[in-house]
Amino acid sequence: MLATQRTDKWWIEPTLTAFGFLCFVIYTTWRAFSGENFVADNYLSPFYSPLLFENPAGHGLDHSWFGSWPTWVPNWIPKSPAIFILIFPLSFRMTCYYYRKFYYRSFFLSPPACAVEGIKQKNYKGETGFLIIQNLHRYTLYIALLYILILYYDGYHGLFRDGTFGIGIGTIILLINPTLLAFYAFGCHAFRHLIGGKEDCFTCPAGNEKIKYKAWKKVSLLNSKHMLWAWASMIWVALTDLYVMLVSKGVITDLNTWNN
Ligand code: FES
Repeated sequence: MLATQRTDKWWIEPTLTAFGFLCFVIYTTWRAFSGENFVADNYLSPFYSPLLFENPAGHGLDHSWFGSWPTWVPNWIPKSPAIFILIFPLSFRMTCYYYRKFYYRSFFLSPPACAVEGIKQKNYKGETGFLIIQNLHRYTLYIALLYILILYYDGYHGLFRDGTFGIGIGTIILLINPTLLAFYAFGCHAFRHLIGGKEDCFTCPAGNEKIKYKAWKKVSLLNSKHMLWAWASMIWVALTDLYVMLVSKGVITDLNTWNN
């Protein structure tokens, strides 16, 4: 197992990747089940967006979709809207081509790196059988695009506190979040295919191939840094939640134009 003739430190990347992603998973799981401190005045944590149910603390945002927590939900399920929400953005992330590469490598060691023999390589069948589910990525892309709008909407709410326009550090953090997600989603391989990659000919005179080609080139630019945007957007979404939680708990004070 892990036999290789490579002399470089090939194991550093999959190890660091595994560690970084594990930190994210632990933090996200903890926050998803907490069901608390996800609203701080007009700031909403992205883990709890859109605001499905009223903030249990009873203050801050009041545009929840369904009002109070539903009574039909069994008591053994934690009273946390995030458990209904996170499945959607996670379905996009977990089927992303980059994430697939890194968890196949870092967690399943299948294979752990190029030219390194991994576990079960003799039985390697590619993404067949159950893994055909990864094809869902081309559909979960639409969820991600919708989330960009939803998160910008949260950023918009971050500009108004009790009807008064203003700006705070939280507003800026909230607005950066969907921007990084947009860089990530618009560089998606499935989006690249959709925008022009599926065309057979970019130079054919008929139709709008030239426009598609220009769009495809721009998407390709983002696509070339897809790993960077994947990590930046993932880390930022966790930091955004952390910021909202700390402000909500009173651990830190949000610098803003409303209180000053
Ligand atoms: S391939 Fe990574 S988001 Fe689509």
